[in-house]
Amino acid sequence: MNRDNAPKTPATFQVKSFGCQMNVYDGERMAEMLNARGMAAAAPGEEADLVVLNTCHIREKAVDRVYSDIGRLRRDDGSRPMIAVAGCIAQAEGSEISRRAKTVDIVVGPQAYHRLPDLIDRATRGEEAVDTDMPADSKFGALPGRGKQARPSAFLTIQEGCDKFCTYCVVPYTRGAEISRPWTAIIDEAKALIDGGAREITLLGQNVNAWTGEDSSGRLRGMDGLVRALADLPDLHRIRYTTSHPNDMTDGLIAAHAEVEKLMPFLHLPVQSGNDRILKAMNRSHTAASYLAIIEKVRAVRPDIAISGDFIVGFPGETDAEFEDTLKIVDQVRYAQCYSFKYSPRPGTPAAGMDDQVPAEVMDDRLARLQAAINRHQMDFNAAAVGRTTQILLERKGRNPGQLIGKTPWLQSVHVTAPELVIGDMVEVDIISAGPNSLAGEISRRKAA
Ligand code: SAH
Ligand code: SF4
Ligand code: F3S
Repeated sequence: MNRDNAPKTPATFQVKSFGCQMNVYDGERMAEMLNARGMAAAAPGEEADLVVLNTCHIREKAVDRVYSDIGRLRRDDGSRPMIAVAGCIAQAEGSEISRRAKTVDIVVGPQAYHRLPDLIDRATRGEEAVDTDMPADSKFGALPGRGKQARPSAFLTIQEGCDKFCTYCVVPYTRGAEISRPWTAIIDEAKALIDGGAREITLLGQNVNAWTGEDSSGRLRGMDGLVRALADLPDLHRIRYTTSHPNDMTDGLIAAHAEVEKLMPFLHLPVQSGNDRILKAMNRSHTAASYLAIIEKVRAVRPDIAISGDFIVGFPGETDAEFEDTLKIVDQVRYAQCYSFKYSPRPGTPAAGMDDQVPAEVMDDRLARLQAAINRHQMDFNAAAVGRTTQILLERKGRNPGQLIGKTPWLQSVHVTAPELVIGDMVEVDIISAGPNSLAGEISRRKAA
């Protein structure tokens, strides 16, 4: 391993997370762990002694970005920080990374990052520091307790991994098999987050609604049971969860949307394509009709629920007519928001070896048409909020003085000017105007909570 000019023992660190919310959560846990080890987060703008790039392998673009980031970490005087590559690229590429980028000192997979302190010691001694194990002893048990400060809207990973093996996707390989964290660990972590100031908790998992476990009296529960228990915690106002798989959308969870007031009316339920032949080739194990039936069931008990989704255009062999089915399902569901991607062949996945890869310009065209349809529905959804009075949780500062940005129950961002309020307040606002990506509001009557 090349250790040119890396600092001996790092005192400060920076964690940069790419990828999904679970990576953001992992990044926070790594930072807390380094803090517990006596290291300090580098101040904004300050160069850190250790830079942790917490990476994502989901699409090729994400991978390219990280390698260019590694190159840019060299300082003007030729020195560089100690560099750790964590996350899903670390898992997928392992020691390949330090061959491709000689300045990488540490490679640590998403299930092994509780061992980061030891890897730092190894790297400091100039030894190879690569750990992509998926140890049976969960990292969660080895991490320090949550820090004393939490954001008003906090993430909590309750489930990891995926056994579904969609043919395009790397997650089952980078995150391993599906596991559910134990009930008590989740409740305790939620309490710590609430004590630290969290008012909203988003439960995370690659297939979060596949969570199962025994409650404190030994009864087997699904995620709806967990949501109900969390809803009993005072000072927690809002519960969300992401990402869900259609096949794990149980009747119990649907019922919770009707019955648990703190469970927000928002459901991220990716469908990927509106065409059954493509869904089959993707190994999605649901059809367009079975997906629509779930949406209908959820809307029957919670008519105002906002639905969001993920789409892939240009999966190998996708014809124009098959793509039209995707536009059709977008119109049928009337999504509040969506993520849409061009298919990206990922090494080691079955789809990467399929015939009929779709040309880039066809993908560009399909993505543009899909996004136009998505934007239209998103604008309609936002426009429907104008005139409504709703509660928002203030989460961050806006660009203008006295401006704060909060979220509605339906996950829309609302800008308000309210110098007397602070981040973490819940407040009622009248929605006065809507744009494609956010709303504007005025404080309605009172500070609610
Ligand atoms: N577990 C979630 C999704 C996790 S990945 C689910 O099944 O819904 C997030 C999104 O990235 C996916 O929903 C999919 O739309 C997209 N994605 C995954 N692999 C991809 C690939 N190879 N190319 C393009 N998009 C991909
Ligand atoms: Fe990937 Fe499919 Fe698993 Fe989602 S369900 S993480 S898309 S393999
Ligand atoms: Fe990316 Fe890994 Fe999440 S590949 S999307 S960071 S699970």
